[in-house]
Amino acid sequence: MKVLVTGGCGYIGSHTVRALVNSGHDVLVLDNLVNGHRRAIDENVGFVAGDLEDRTLLAELFEAEKFDAVVHFAAFIEVGESVIDPLKFYQNNISNTLNLLQAMQTYGVKKMVFSSTCAVYGTPDTMPLTEELPCNPVSPYARAKYAIEWALEDCNTAWELGYTALRYFNAAGAASDGKIGEDHSPESHLIPIVLQVALGQREQVKIFGTDYDTPDGSCLRDYIHVEDLADAHVKALEVLAPGQKRIYNAGTGTPTSVRELIEVARKVTGHAIPAVEEGRRAGDVPELYANASKIRDDLGWQPRYAKLEDIVASAWKWHQAHPKGYDDRR
Ligand code: UFG
Repeated sequence: MKVLVTGGCGYIGSHTVRALVNSGHDVLVLDNLVNGHRRAIDENVGFVAGDLEDRTLLAELFEAEKFDAVVHFAAFIEVGESVIDPLKFYQNNISNTLNLLQAMQTYGVKKMVFSSTCAVYGTPDTMPLTEELPCNPVSPYARAKYAIEWALEDCNTAWELGYTALRYFNAAGAASDGKIGEDHSPESHLIPIVLQVALGQREQVKIFGTDYDTPDGSCLRDYIHVEDLADAHVKALEVLAPGQKRIYNAGTGTPTSVRELIEVARKVTGHAIPAVEEGRRAGDVPELYANASKIRDDLGWQPRYAKLEDIVASAWKWHQAHPKGYDDRR
């Protein structure tokens, strides 16, 4: 398939680009490189530096390339920033996505795999999460993602857009060959921060919240290896047909606490990784983990990384080889 991948230079996007190419698809990446890294995708993969805000560029690309499908990652991802600057998120994550959908409608492209998030569920009181639970997103980030889920449904009704929304849990780890990995700036995610402590780049990791109603008082999350997540995109794309609508939790179903994760990282790295207890981080939900049976049953998807040790080890391999991430000048 000829596939447009927006945001293909980001963390999950770049691993998915590799998986698509390895499955024989012809990929063109569109990325504005605001947060993405050109070096995260192979030189041989088609690449256009540009923004979804640019409707002329979109028209030119759709006219010239005759895409069969779109995998849409391009978005801002920092939940905290979205609370401070909601319009930035509504502009990029909603308005610019509407430009993309408009181009798809105009040029008759009727397949999209969309990056949604488990944050659309809000603060649910039942766990694990199934796709049928009511959504009640609380941050502008999550509300923008949920708004696009509605837009996709309406486009499905109106012009037979086929779509799969993957509600990501916590993407983690790095490519098994160590060539690409996670590099955000500034970094806010737990695993890279813990590994930066192991590398001596930070003195300690802060455990945000130790008084939650969870087994050890710290938050529970569902860590899914980024290559397994990439594989879910490929499988979702390959079975998708115009007119279909699918929503899947993309997680493993295994909850891990912040304390457990730090302990695993100590074992994997052999470093002490000092940790200090801090107050709760604004906006954090005590627990988020998936019932992932729908994606397994429908797509035949199975995570290859079943053990957290292996997920953290793959991230450690990347961080050791690239202590400054993609940018050696940093
Ligand atoms: N945490 C710490 N210390 C840190 C960083 C994180 O204790 O230094 C904790 C957080 O409080 C949370 C857990 O580790 O309990 C995981 O935090 P992350 O920031 O790694 O991930 P989140 O679950 O907050 O975020 C995930 C994705 C985001 C996405 C968000 C939507 O990684 O990209 O879900 O809810 F936006």
